[in-house]
Amino acid sequence: MNSTRAYAHTNIALIKYWGKLPGHLNLPATGSLSLTLQNFGTETTLSFIDAPEDVFVLNNQEQTGDPLSRVQRFLDIVRALTKNNQHCLVDSRNDVPTHSGLASSASGFAALSMAANQHFSLNLNPTDLSQLARVGSGSAARSIFGDFVYMHPGSPFDKTGGYAEPLLADPSLDIRLIVVQCASTPKEISSRTGMIHTSSTSPYYPSWINTHAFDLEEATKAAMQGDFRTLGELTEHSTLKMHACMLAAKPAFWYFEPLTIAVMNRVKNLRDDGANCYFTMDAGPHVKVLCQAKQADGIANELKKIEGIIQIDIATPGPGAKLL
Ligand code: PMV
Repeated sequence: MNSTRAYAHTNIALIKYWGKLPGHLNLPATGSLSLTLQNFGTETTLSFIDAPEDVFVLNNQEQTGDPLSRVQRFLDIVRALTKNNQHCLVDSRNDVPTHSGLASSASGFAALSMAANQHFSLNLNPTDLSQLARVGSGSAARSIFGDFVYMHPGSPFDKTGGYAEPLLADPSLDIRLIVVQCASTPKEISSRTGMIHTSSTSPYYPSWINTHAFDLEEATKAAMQGDFRTLGELTEHSTLKMHACMLAAKPAFWYFEPLTIAVMNRVKNLRDDGANCYFTMDAGPHVKVLCQAKQADGIANELKKIEGIIQIDIATPGPGAKLL
């Protein structure tokens, strides 16, 4: 069977996106700044099939319900762009836990976009490919590119924006992200549901939106100038503001587990003792710790001492999505 294979790495946002503009284009209400990670990702093989609908297999299991509908909606957009109405088999394998706040949808939709671009002969340039990936998952737009990535917010007026581009950070940062897995069960509230609920009920949401651009611009500047401390401080500030919005929603919800808080406390204590490290959390219980290569092993060894941690990986910056 004629098929196309692609691989995309996950990415983790240092300055978060949380909230969507109205409409069906999945435009983010905020921009973001992220780091693509070498250690985790998704491989996807796309083929045309003679079947009444698309089939989505993830880690050897045929998917139904929401995961299948998301992939089908995405492929409907590709079919509308190309006037090629064939159904597809999407066969994916994640090197990262699925639906747990470790960005499996980012690498998943970036790999699928990459494969679809080739298989349907879309010939999209990287910016348009990033926009296509965003329709599947907001953070997927960033996984098209490697290392540090800057993502533009959507524009409510002309439906542009909402695409990512590579950011040339100062190499002296020599950044590492220690990924600390704090639970093994999938999250209960998807980021999509969480964002919609937060934006419609949290009184803190307008402040999140109004203060976001400043954080993004300052953190971007810090990354380009090699100012690790400012980048780290803004990374923590952004994640805590995002989670504070959720805590103020009605009803409130949170992704933290006791171990999440234990890791946050340990990071803060390590910092008080002179280590340069900063935490960030997404829509899941895991903690990612931003540090520099020279201190990464020492910090990871300290974090390993926390009882109950499931796995710790020191992730290095990784490349953009590619065809295999
Ligand atoms: O890509 P989505 O739409 O599942 O949203 C991801 C949201 C966060 O991971 C919490 C933040 C981010 O910018 O990646």
